[in-house]
Amino acid sequence: MSRIINLDPMNANQATFKDGWDVYRIAALDDPYPVWAAIREESPVLDAGGGVFFVSAFELANEALRHPAVRAGSGVAESFGATEGPVYDVATSWLMSLDGEEHQRARGLVQREFTSKRVEALRPFIDAAADRLAREFATACVEQPSDLVPALAFALPSEVIRSLFAIDADEWQRDVVPLIAPTGEPATDPTRADAPAPGAAVAALAEYFRRRIERGGDAGGLLAQLRVADPESGRLSDRAVIANAVLLVTAAIDTTTGLVANTVACLLSHPDQLARVRAHPELVVGVVEETLRFEPPALSCSRTTVEPITLGGVAIPAGSHLLFCIGAANRDPDRFTEPDRFDVERPVERGAETLSFGGGRHFCLGAALARLEAQVAVRALLEHAPDIALHEPIAWRKDSPTVRAPARLVVSRAGRC
Ligand code: HEM
Repeated sequence: MSRIINLDPMNANQATFKDGWDVYRIAALDDPYPVWAAIREESPVLDAGGGVFFVSAFELANEALRHPAVRAGSGVAESFGATEGPVYDVATSWLMSLDGEEHQRARGLVQREFTSKRVEALRPFIDAAADRLAREFATACVEQPSDLVPALAFALPSEVIRSLFAIDADEWQRDVVPLIAPTGEPATDPTRADAPAPGAAVAALAEYFRRRIERGGDAGGLLAQLRVADPESGRLSDRAVIANAVLLVTAAIDTTTGLVANTVACLLSHPDQLARVRAHPELVVGVVEETLRFEPPALSCSRTTVEPITLGGVAIPAGSHLLFCIGAANRDPDRFTEPDRFDVERPVERGAETLSFGGGRHFCLGAALARLEAQVAVRALLEHAPDIALHEPIAWRKDSPTVRAPARLVVSRAGRC
């Protein structure tokens, strides 16, 4: 069955979801939330056609993410169009595409490096890096309006992951940053002759890590630690080490860049809330949590059903794709009071968990690190540049099917530029 959904509420153009994966087009709207509300209201579990079902209600998404017949999706390899080669190897070997015992074992081996103790031990490094970057940015803004995305939102998580991998700063800048840095362009036109092939960055990163393993000498870095055997679960194959190294670089930096930028964007778009946080800096924890709910950097994740299931009264055949609309579930009025209100002092509601880091067995392994980085970055920014304001309307990214974040966030310092 195919559905008619109004994709652009501003000009009332109707768009048909011939293939349910068209959902990714919603992510590119300047304001996708009215469309998701319409989808959720039409049916919290919507048969979107092409074997794809959107799950947009919070409780149903939470339930389905933990359902034994709902397994890791093959969506990523498929979306890259890869059936063999380095991109296929990565997208079928990283944690996100594994299930059952194989996933548990591999997750245990990767997770060793991201325990709360390990993350807390990174705090002094993150504090120092954020302080330096925020101070430099605050100074630059005195001279002229400046883009926060490259200067702080990207620079901080990039620096944290570089240091975890113990990669020399010049090498990181030369070999890795060009593959992962935000372009500053709101849209990448895939029809352009020079547009990168889908998955090109994944393939290049895999090749980079393969060469590093070949070269040896990663002692103390994350790549070497991923290769250390556990007495009980053994060790990851080199293919899995490379795949998860690529996952850690891509999943950790792009999304955390989004969280830092979205948090600042939300505050600057809600001056009353910004004033509260300026007066009470301890609210920064609530600011990051509310941003995760209100403007989540990862808008969706997907799974496949291995048996027929019934969800919210809807029969879903085996082999269907479930597309969890995180952005919709996080604003489900059955779960959150006044869901479209950004409220940094929102009381904890029923555990207050959002779906921003996923749920169930694949729950984000870097959630604690991402939260810490965003809290520290925003605190440092408000300390060094308490008078920042939006200099131009936010230009949202349109180049990613899942990551929602500003492509550019140009700010100025009130009265100084
Ligand atoms: C705000 C920042 C972040 C957001 C919004 C985010 C979001 C997510 C989501 C939604 C998932 C679940 C995907 C699924 O179920 O298919 C996930 C998984 C994952 N994330 Fe994050 N992430 C963030 C930061 C990080 C960081 C900093 C790291 C690493 C240091 C990381 C590493 C991972 C890994 C390894 C997985 C796969 C876990 C598994 O499959 O078992 N993420 N993330």
